[in-house]
Amino acid sequence: MNTWKNLPGKLWVSFMALNPRLHRRALSAGRVLSPAERDLFLSMDRYDLAHSLAVASRLREDPLLYRAALLHDSGKLVTELKLRVRWAYTFLEVFRPRWLQRLTNWVEGEALGRGVLERMRSLPPGWKRGLFVQLHHGEIAAELLRRAGSDEVLVGLVEGHQKEPADERAASLRRVDDLF
Ligand SMILES: [Fe+2]
Ligand SMILES: [Fe+2]
Repeated sequence: MNTWKNLPGKLWVSFMALNPRLHRRALSAGRVLSPAERDLFLSMDRYDLAHSLAVASRLREDPLLYRAALLHDSGKLVTELKLRVRWAYTFLEVFRPRWLQRLTNWVEGEALGRGVLERMRSLPPGWKRGLFVQLHHGEIAAELLRRAGSDEVLVGLVEGHQKEPADERAASLRRVDDLF
């Protein structure tokens, strides 16, 4: 993704994140989710909530895609991924992509375990775990949703949203996600 290309969308989302009615809007949109999915959705920080609502609002015609849009970034766990790591990630992505690649390789090599959650927890809390969460947030959300008994198609859309789209639905999610 090119961060410069969707800068207007990101500015719009930043503006919407300041909206005092954001939480009420999220509660209303979240009515289509199961209780466990809703808890995960509402656990996101204000920016991710505003972003997810913006993406979902463009995908209303397909109920499953709408739910996937609400949940796709819910793996960016606020307890693990701090704002300073997100900003550092974006800075490196834009200005120092090779440094980012080196750090990514380092963290991937240190994250040990069988599943994505076990690998995440094997890292010490801090920037390494934060970077891992940023890199794998789709898989993390998918694993949490799978454990909550979510629909497999929904889980697949969330899990694959950082990768090459596997089908038409995934491509739609990707296209709208990249706008914001
Ligand atoms: Fe994402
Ligand atoms: Fe997203």
